[in-house]
Amino acid sequence: MQEMMGRVLEAWAGVPEAASFLAEWPQLGPRRVLEPATLPVCRWLQEMGSDGVVGAIRAASGRLQWRQTYGAGDFGADFLTGYGWAEFIGLRGLMASERIACGILLLAPGIVYPAHAHEAEEIYLPIHGEALWQQGQGEFKPVPVGQAVHHASWVPHAMRVGSEPLAALYLWRGGDLAAKSVILGQQGA
Ligand SMILES: [Fe+2]
Repeated sequence: MQEMMGRVLEAWAGVPEAASFLAEWPQLGPRRVLEPATLPVCRWLQEMGSDGVVGAIRAASGRLQWRQTYGAGDFGADFLTGYGWAEFIGLRGLMASERIACGILLLAPGIVYPAHAHEAEEIYLPIHGEALWQQGQGEFKPVPVGQAVHHASWVPHAMRVGSEPLAALYLWRGGDLAAKSVILGQQGA
C-alpha cells in the first residue's frame, strides 16, 4: 500500500494545478483499516498492464475498498456494472483527511457518465484509457493519459468512455468531501 501511495503522489507531483491540493496531503494522518470490497468494474484493471501508478493500484486492488456513490435509480443498472471508485485519502480513505480527498475512478469501455456537479473543486488525472470529457455546455473533448482536467466548484461535467477502460486519479477539495454529486444529465446525454 505504501508503494501504491508513493506512486499516486508521484503522479500528482507532475500536475501544476494539483500543487495546492498536495499541500494538504496527510503526512502522518491516522491510517484506517478498510474492509476490502470488490466491484464488477475491477475486472478491467487486468487489462491495464502492470507498470507505473496503474500497475501499483492494480497490485493493491484486492486490498482496496471499491465503492459506488450511485444506485440503479440514477443512471441505470448497466452503469453500475462499469463504474466504481476507491478512496486513498479522505473522510473514508486509507489515510484520514478532512481537507482533501484522493482516489481512483474506474469506468468500463462504452460507459457514459452523464453530467453531474458537486461543491468540491476537483482535478482528474487519467492514468489509463482515453475518454471524451465535457465541462459546462462545452464540446466533448478527448483527454489523453497524463493530461489533468480541472473542475471548479459546481461546474457540470460528463464523460464518455471509448473502447478502452478508463482509470483516472482524482483530488477533491472544499465542500462535503463525501457528498453525492447532483445529477444534471441523463444516460446517453
Ligand atoms: Fe466530479
